[in-house]
Amino acid sequence: MQSNHKKTIVVLFFLACFIFGLLAEAWAGPPPGKGRRHSRRSFQGHHGIGFLGKGICPQIRKTVQAPDKILTQKNPLEKNREVVDAGESLFQIEAQPTACKICHGVTGNGLGIMAQGLNPPPRNFTCRSTMESISDGQLFWIIRNGSPGTGMPAFKNLKDREIWKIVRYLRTFSGKRR
Ligand code: HEC
Repeated sequence: MQSNHKKTIVVLFFLACFIFGLLAEAWAGPPPGKGRRHSRRSFQGHHGIGFLGKGICPQIRKTVQAPDKILTQKNPLEKNREVVDAGESLFQIEAQPTACKICHGVTGNGLGIMAQGLNPPPRNFTCRSTMESISDGQLFWIIRNGSPGTGMPAFKNLKDREIWKIVRYLRTFSGKRR
């Protein structure tokens, strides 16, 4: 009898520790810093999908079409590391007044921090089915001129070459190896 009583106490003790562990974990919230745990939790954060979801795909697209001459133009810059890296810097940081990632997202999924509430939403560059239907020239033209009546601004101060570099980079989001 006596030893059974002891066993019960021991079991209860471990159970209490376990429950305390769960509560403490929940109460502490996401740990500071990055890491998997953090990103998983923010994925289910208060915005529902957070910034790391797959994005909307396919996307409904009503964007105005570029004039024929530009529409069919191919990217004059070859696809190499240098070009893609330069495009990345412009997309993620350098483009003025607002870096593309703010709306289009660091991962190109269209879920950037300013994407909330934009209607139509920013293009999801990771969505292959939508991106396949958009020519290089079209991408170029919208980056230069913006998409009137939407959140997509015109980037008049980017040089042609800079825009073509960005276009190269945009294509990597829906490339086969991603
Ligand atoms: C303030 C938010 C915002 C910023 C900053 C922004 N975009 Fe956009 N972008 C949008 C929105 C919204 C759309 C959707 C427009 C539409 O549906 O016509 C869009 C659409 C596009 C498209 C799709 C064109 C098409 O024909 O479908 C491209 C390409 C694009 N953006 C490139 C860029 C690049 C490159 C940058 C940075 C140099 C950038 N955007 C910065 C909001 C933004």
